[in-house]
Amino acid sequence: MLTETRSFPPAPEFAAQANAQAHLYNEAANDRLEFWAHQARTHVTWKTPFTETLDWSNAPVARWFGDGTLNAAYNAVDRHVAAGNGDRVALHFEGEPGDTRTVTYADLQREVSRAANALASLGVTTGDRVVIYLPMIVEAVVAMLACARIGATHSVVFGGFSADALRSRIADAGAKIVITADGGFRRGKASALKPAVDEALTGDSPVEHVVVVRRTGQETAWAEGRDVWWHDITETADIEHTPVWVEAEHPLFILYTSGTTGKPKGILHTTGGYLTQAAYTHYNVFDVKPETDVYWCTADIGWITGHSYVVYGPLLNGATQVIYEGTPDSPHQGRWWEIIEKYKVSLFYTAPTAIRTCMKWGEDIPNKYDLSSLRVLGSVGESINPEAWMWYRRVIGANTAPIVDTWWQTETGAIMISPLPGVTATKPGSAQRPLPGISAEVVNDSAEAVPNGSGGYLVLTEPWPAMLRGIWGDLERYKDTYWSRFEGLYFAGDGAKKDEDGDIWLLGRVDDVMNVSGHRLSTMEIESALVSHDFVAEAAVVGAADDTTGQAVVAFVILREEHAQNAGTAEGSESIQIDLRNHVAKEIGPIAKPRTILVVPELPKTRSGKIMRRLLRDIAENRTVGDATTLADSSVMDLIASGLSSKARS
Ligand code: WTA
Repeated sequence: MLTETRSFPPAPEFAAQANAQAHLYNEAANDRLEFWAHQARTHVTWKTPFTETLDWSNAPVARWFGDGTLNAAYNAVDRHVAAGNGDRVALHFEGEPGDTRTVTYADLQREVSRAANALASLGVTTGDRVVIYLPMIVEAVVAMLACARIGATHSVVFGGFSADALRSRIADAGAKIVITADGGFRRGKASALKPAVDEALTGDSPVEHVVVVRRTGQETAWAEGRDVWWHDITETADIEHTPVWVEAEHPLFILYTSGTTGKPKGILHTTGGYLTQAAYTHYNVFDVKPETDVYWCTADIGWITGHSYVVYGPLLNGATQVIYEGTPDSPHQGRWWEIIEKYKVSLFYTAPTAIRTCMKWGEDIPNKYDLSSLRVLGSVGESINPEAWMWYRRVIGANTAPIVDTWWQTETGAIMISPLPGVTATKPGSAQRPLPGISAEVVNDSAEAVPNGSGGYLVLTEPWPAMLRGIWGDLERYKDTYWSRFEGLYFAGDGAKKDEDGDIWLLGRVDDVMNVSGHRLSTMEIESALVSHDFVAEAAVVGAADDTTGQAVVAFVILREEHAQNAGTAEGSESIQIDLRNHVAKEIGPIAKPRTILVVPELPKTRSGKIMRRLLRDIAENRTVGDATTLADSSVMDLIASGLSSKARS
């Protein structure tokens, strides 16, 4: 990957933007804080203008634009209506069963205002937390904005997470309200969501009301007094609502993500800085022309990409976008391309795993559709391998659309490293340069910048507006996780390399976080889920390279004595595997299910008892096992290998 030397000059279509984009780099280099103050005034409308750009005196907790006040929903919706753009389409909703809905900015203003009044009537006020557990439907966007409108902090939980995962997030956030739906549509079928909420709320819970959107019409258990229908409370609500002006540092949302320990972290984002960078990056990285472009980001709102590049970034920019409820292969493998043709999508943002899946299905499928409207293609979630990059450019982008490979994280809130389509000669597989205003570096173990041509750890060297403000309820963990590895530098957890031109190539996580189909999963979290099963004595999980999903979860488990016998038979072994995979799905969610579970007699450990995952990864990726000299018992690897090969024979 690192020998890649191809480079594609900026497309001539972007010549008009070249000057403006080059100018951004210059301005930011001249005076970084003045640059951000200017972006904050350009992309955000303030109720009270700020006078201070950054207060870093309490580092690593930042205050950006601290004395300004604003409202996120006003910025995403009302001001576009006030500017005369109420008739512009905000959302082209495409449901999985083929139902559609067009929502203009004026419609959105009415819907969000109604929902804000409805939530207020349930007692939600500024500072309360609201958990949102919904499919990709219009109400998901409306619910987030309604919270923002009243200054309540939303915490969206991806609909694929289990009741247990939902329960721990509700408890950690101390949510008063959960907004959910009876269900959603996926692969031609209705699947239920509300039962998971009911299960998550058994026993002690801070939740007072559950608001339920009717999406599928399926039967739903009902807790009188607690549960209310979304349509009942919104249809009767007033369409006028005055936004609550909040301080720039008011918590806008908490989003849980996997870290290196078993417990997910509630990443806290606040209002002014987050909105500034979400809008600025969306505007420049995608070169958005709100009057003419149709943008589509395929991420679910349950992830940070859905927050910054479905909800806040595009709506702050007054863009028209597509949102789609379903999967790319339902009812056929051309569904995405059909949607692009139908809405004349011009800016498209997706993940490498999806591109590789489409590559596997074959280019005949996208070739059947007219994709000529596309002019910028984005990639996010993991490094995009050069083969997938070239395919994306050639088959989807007609060899002309530039690809922006965007590196960022839940914690960074918005894109940090990416080409700009007007000025960057793009290289397949590299995210290339920090955006104007962002300072990143690749350092060695002693925190020294490595020379071009060398690798190390990716760090961010200056605070940025959309940076996380902490981990909800745990300031120490925030400092410890991100700011203790290298003094004064933000440690991203990614390995990276600078090529001879100084361009950055991301090399994957250097910690115990896996990246499966662009989703972050913690090895420890899945290990805890496995050992919570009665049969399991010990478990070790690794991320093994996978052609489609980037990495795949491979689990090594030691069974308790009484079950080990049973696992010796082919049938027993298969049923244990199914059991354990379902157990992980129940504890965390189907996305965390191990692809492979290997029952082993021992795990390789160092003398201090640390599992040597590196050796397990060698096995999982069918490699010759590497240096095992630091093992406490060097015969363990032979034992594992012989156990696995005898199983393969049986
Ligand atoms: C990885 C998703 C390489 C990286 C926005 C990071 C990437 C983690 C890229 C964050 C990219 C994301 N190239 N790696 N363009 N984008 N990553 O929090 O390991 O779900 O630390 O945020 O994804 O994942 P998260």
